[in-house]
Amino acid sequence: MVRILLLHGPNLSQLGTRDPAHYGTATLDDVVRAARQEALDVGASVEHLQTELEGELVTRLHAARTDGTDAVIVNAGAWTHYSYAIRDALELLEVPKVELHLSHVHAREPFRATSVIAAVCDGSIAGFGIDGYPLAVRATLALLTRRA
Ligand code: DQA
Repeated sequence: MVRILLLHGPNLSQLGTRDPAHYGTATLDDVVRAARQEALDVGASVEHLQTELEGELVTRLHAARTDGTDAVIVNAGAWTHYSYAIRDALELLEVPKVELHLSHVHAREPFRATSVIAAVCDGSIAGFGIDGYPLAVRATLALLTRRA
C-alpha cells in the first residue's frame, strides 16, 4: 500500500471558520477525509499531521526519510512564503512531493505569490479548495508511477 504523508502548517487548524471567502467552510477534518477517501479508491493510505510549530514539521519531514513514507502532500500555510528550514527539509526528502494550497495564492496579496518550497516539490496545486486534496492524492500516485 502506498503511504502518503499529508502535512498542514500553521492556522490550518482553524479551517471552517477561517476566512471562508478564501478557504471555504470545510474543516481540517473534512479536507483530510477528502484526501483519505481518494486514497482508498487508489489503494493508498494517508497519515496526517497539522502543526503550528515549524520545528515539528521539520522533524516530521526528517523522519519521513526513513519511515516508509512514499510521497508527501504539503500545505505549509504561511511558511510556504518564507521558511527556508521547511524548504531545506523538503529538499532532503527524496520521495515525490506535492505543494498544495486551498486558495489561489497567485491571485491574492503579492507575498503569497512567492513560494520558497515550490522548487523542491514536484508540482503545485492551488485554488481548488477542498477539491485540491483528491487531486493532490492523484498527483502523488502519478508521480510514483512515473518514477517506477
Ligand atoms: C494557504 C495559503 C497561504 O498563503 C496561507 O498563509 C495559508 C493557507 C492555502 O491553503 O491557501 O495559511 O496555504
